[in-house]
Amino acid sequence: MSTAAQSIREIVTRQPSAARVFRRFDIDLCLQADLSLEGACEELRLSVDQVLEKLADEEVQVSGGAALDPANFPLGRLIQHIVRVHHHSIRQELPRLAEMASQAAAKCVDRSPELVRVVELIEKLHREMYAHIEKEEQILFPFISQMDQESIVSYPPLHACFRSVAHPIFMMEQEHESANHVVSELIRLTNHFEPPTWACGTHTALFSGLRQFELDLRQHVRLEDEVLFPRAIQRETELKARS
Ligand SMILES: [Fe+2]
Ligand SMILES: [Fe+2]
Repeated sequence: MSTAAQSIREIVTRQPSAARVFRRFDIDLCLQADLSLEGACEELRLSVDQVLEKLADEEVQVSGGAALDPANFPLGRLIQHIVRVHHHSIRQELPRLAEMASQAAAKCVDRSPELVRVVELIEKLHREMYAHIEKEEQILFPFISQMDQESIVSYPPLHACFRSVAHPIFMMEQEHESANHVVSELIRLTNHFEPPTWACGTHTALFSGLRQFELDLRQHVRLEDEVLFPRAIQRETELKARS
């Protein structure tokens, strides 16, 4: 749990989701990075207890989500979980990280020229992952949900866009590989998301946000590649044997 005596920088380093809370309260990650939370709240005439409460809520929300074990969910619920937690995180975090990366690059490019490439990589990830999750939500996931219905009478279902679910799954796995390459380059460029000692608050918040995003993406891809997709292929085998 964060405390009023910790600096804004310390809080955001320990709890990446704190950046979202600070943004809501207009606490400046750069200008107020070295102030204690209490000091920053005093400057902005905020209630420190209210900010601490929101930080705690945010932390519980993030760790509560991680404590679930969705690998045991039925297919339909697993898909819902992936969309609500991981696709939501992509839609929410990538624009925020892209904005922070541009700000950090504009301020710190002289001492950290690699930030220019970091901006390009986040934008690439943003473009590719948006298109990827749209395909999953519009085409593949509805198809898998349909396969999971007990009432399904023929396979492949009428109006299916493909003969076997293995084809779109193969495409999605290739796209996961591509995202992994982008993330590996980000890890290498940022020294495993370790900010330099002189980094400003935005730079520090960007790296902790990227670290959190990388964990979330790894969990997301693992759930699809190792749980959802093999189970969909197994379900297809059962349906084919039945028809
Ligand atoms: Fe996904
Ligand atoms: Fe995916």
